[in-house]
Amino acid sequence: MTHGAASPAEAIKQAKAELRAAVLARRDAADFASRIRHSQTITQKLFALPEYRAAAVVAAYASFGSELDTAEFIARILADGKVLLLPRINRAQRALELRHVKNPGADLVAGVWGIREPAERCRIINPAKVEFLLVPGVAFTAGGARLGYGGGFYDRLLASVDQRAVRIAAAFELQMVEQLPEGPHDQRVGKVITEK
Ligand SMILES: Nc1ncnc2c1ncn2[C@@H]1O[C@H](COP(=O)(O)OP(=O)(O)O)[C@@H](O)[C@H]1O
Ligand SMILES: [Mg+2]
Repeated sequence: MTHGAASPAEAIKQAKAELRAAVLARRDAADFASRIRHSQTITQKLFALPEYRAAAVVAAYASFGSELDTAEFIARILADGKVLLLPRINRAQRALELRHVKNPGADLVAGVWGIREPAERCRIINPAKVEFLLVPGVAFTAGGARLGYGGGFYDRLLASVDQRAVRIAAAFELQMVEQLPEGPHDQRVGKVITEK
């Protein structure tokens, strides 16, 4: 390879890595009490969304690290009588499978990177059936642009769900940025809910 200006794709990759590190450091530095408090506020806002209320099949995720705590949201989906789907990593296909979880206490096992995920026995559900999808991420813009953890997993999942499915990100205000680098494969969310 010749030496010279980085390709546009390389420049985007580099800019994403820098922003990812900066926002994760900011999120990791937030105190535990505000993380709990903001998680509760955000969860209440999610429940109140008409899109959530109307959905019979809801895909969420089990949070890890300094992410907003999704445990209460997950419990409420089941209490509301909706079908709960959670992602499981398929390493061979570098893809996320959505699996039907009936009892998080019994159905979740530690997966890749220690993230809890549905056990193999949980049934795989076609992503086309999802009506409401809660999307994790590192940074977002008000317009719904999303920076993930760097694996592109949710870009692939978002591309496979029904066009009509509602895509909602929940994040702390400290994860919001004015703009972020986007590649051609990056998928946006319809709305970002924060504690503000
Ligand atoms: N269609 C695609 N969907 C998702 N990722 C893709 C696709 N095509 C290529 N990739 C690769 O996946 C990698 C991760 O994507 P990126 O958007 O940076 O991750 P994330 O969305 O997790 O922040 C990129 O380096 C990109 O080259
Ligand atoms: Mg992406």
